Amino acid sequence: MSSDANKVSGPDLEKEGVAAGSIADGAVLLGHVMSEAVLVVRQGERFHAVGATCSHYGGPLAEGLVEGDTIRCPWHHACFDLRSGEAVGAPALAPIACYEVTRSGDRLFVIGRKTAPAARTTSEPASVVVVGGGAAGFAAAEMLRRRGFAGSLTMLSADSSAPYDRPNASKDYLSGGAPEEWMPLRGDDWYVERKIDVRLGARVTAIDVAGKRVRTGGGDVAYDALVLATGAEPIRLPVPGADLPHVHVLRSLADSRAIIEQARSGRRAVVVGASFIGLEAAASLRKRGLEVHVVAPETRPLARVLGEAIGGVIQKAHEAEGVVFHLGRKPAAIDPGAVVLDDGTRFDADVVVMGVGVRPNLALAEAAGLKVDRGVVVDANLRTSAPDVWAAGDIARWEHRRFGSVRIEHWVVAERQGQTVANNVLASRGSGSLAPFEAVPFFWSNHFDVGLNYVGHAEAWDSIDVDGDLEARDFTAAFRKQGRTLAVATMGRDGASLEAELAMERDDEAALQRLAAKK
Ligand SMILES: Cc1cc2nc3c(=O)[nH]c(=O)nc-3n(C[C@H](O)[C@H](O)[C@H](O)COP(=O)(O)OP(=O)(O)OC[C@H]3O[C@@H](n4cnc5c(N)ncnc54)[C@H](O)[C@@H]3O)c2cc1C
Ligand code: FES
Repeated sequence: MSSDANKVSGPDLEKEGVAAGSIADGAVLLGHVMSEAVLVVRQGERFHAVGATCSHYGGPLAEGLVEGDTIRCPWHHACFDLRSGEAVGAPALAPIACYEVTRSGDRLFVIGRKTAPAARTTSEPASVVVVGGGAAGFAAAEMLRRRGFAGSLTMLSADSSAPYDRPNASKDYLSGGAPEEWMPLRGDDWYVERKIDVRLGARVTAIDVAGKRVRTGGGDVAYDALVLATGAEPIRLPVPGADLPHVHVLRSLADSRAIIEQARSGRRAVVVGASFIGLEAAASLRKRGLEVHVVAPETRPLARVLGEAIGGVIQKAHEAEGVVFHLGRKPAAIDPGAVVLDDGTRFDADVVVMGVGVRPNLALAEAAGLKVDRGVVVDANLRTSAPDVWAAGDIARWEHRRFGSVRIEHWVVAERQGQTVANNVLASRGSGSLAPFEAVPFFWSNHFDVGLNYVGHAEAWDSIDVDGDLEARDFTAAFRKQGRTLAVATMGRDGASLEAELAMERDDEAALQRLAAKK
């Protein structure tokens, strides 16, 4: 998952330097310092030099988007501060290198690395408890420590694994393309060094909002501030046989491991549901050499989210690799070693994966008396109806200034919300000022060699305007309602996806119209 940015090219920025005049304002120049790929970015008469490789999966930042003092990665939209290298926007959670630049006449030279200034420490609030060890929970804990929070920090997670790269559980990890060591977001030492008390297998069963305590099987834990990030649970269809040992859902690393274990000795897999996760699982199991059948009630996979035509592109990509679709069909029963469809068709299945959606884990919040309405209701700063309780990730419902009331199930959104919550927990106790969560939703999905990026949020639309060629998987598609662009999906056009994100942040409808003009 590393990019060519690892291979050095361009001028030796330390020894040869580069002519300042050769870099246009706002432009990026790729060179190197020793064996490190380094970018020089010009902003007026200021020059920044940073590592050229994204700290998430190694995306090539030279192909990213410079905006103000930041650069965004073309692959999954991580954002880095050019002045410090700090990862200011998920999914990257580690900085990139940042260098000093000196000028001699018109020549620029990149010299030593800058060291990040230490954050001012604060012990207010005295204790923070994070419920959930997923995207939002981890990002909140990481940001609390990054911002100098020195109080007690406890993460209670029902999962048996420490925070890991969940999106990979259906992609490279499931297909065998990513080794085990890629999955944890951080090693055990990282939590020890930062004094984060991670308790695994620790399910919180109740919250006492008035007494500021949470209950677990191992006893109560008191908090001054509570971050709720309990995510979602996968749905298991109520069909006879759904609880047989060869039938799996796919949410956790343990689920992914269990599927891999069964796939090792299996010949045929049946995936129930043509959701993003179902289809990613289908692609991964096919890559493992299994015969793969997908059973789903819709007539076109992903049409509800992407429309018929783009859904068709993804379906074709699967069919070209040998995945067999049984659309307009539901499973009627699952037997040991077989699946029976509602039209009586029966076929062998050594492993069955249910990818039929998730239900947000709202029960805790509901029982605690927090305001819940199709999600845990949070204000613009992600605070729940209780003053010291915050919520982030798949459970949170908030009012987005462009998309209205939303609850979003994306990795990057969950991480960014976790980061916002961390900042606001500290701000609510005097460190800085509260900041609203305004990020534009973004997700990515991979199917064999087809990658899709999606920014925005469109539950319904009047038109999908396409620039490019769907069949060639090289397009920008704008989902519009009453002339307003609600979402932009791209294949093979990472730059357009970044531009769409920025235009939505700025509410720049004219720029969005230009990305895929109505024909
Ligand atoms: C296989 C897979 C692939 C995905 N791929 C993508 C992708 O490519 N792009 C994308 O944008 N999104 C993807 N998603 C969605 C994304 O992973 C989620 O939106 C994201 O993880 C939500 O983060 P979260 O922190 O809200 O919840 P989660 O990451 O689910 O974390 C919730 C945590 O809370 C814990 N928990 C739950 N209840 C309790 C309790 N009572 N007490 C203590 N702990 C509790 C859980 O054990 C877990 O640790 C994928 C999801 C899956 C399952
Ligand atoms: S590789 Fe840069 S955001 Fe993923």
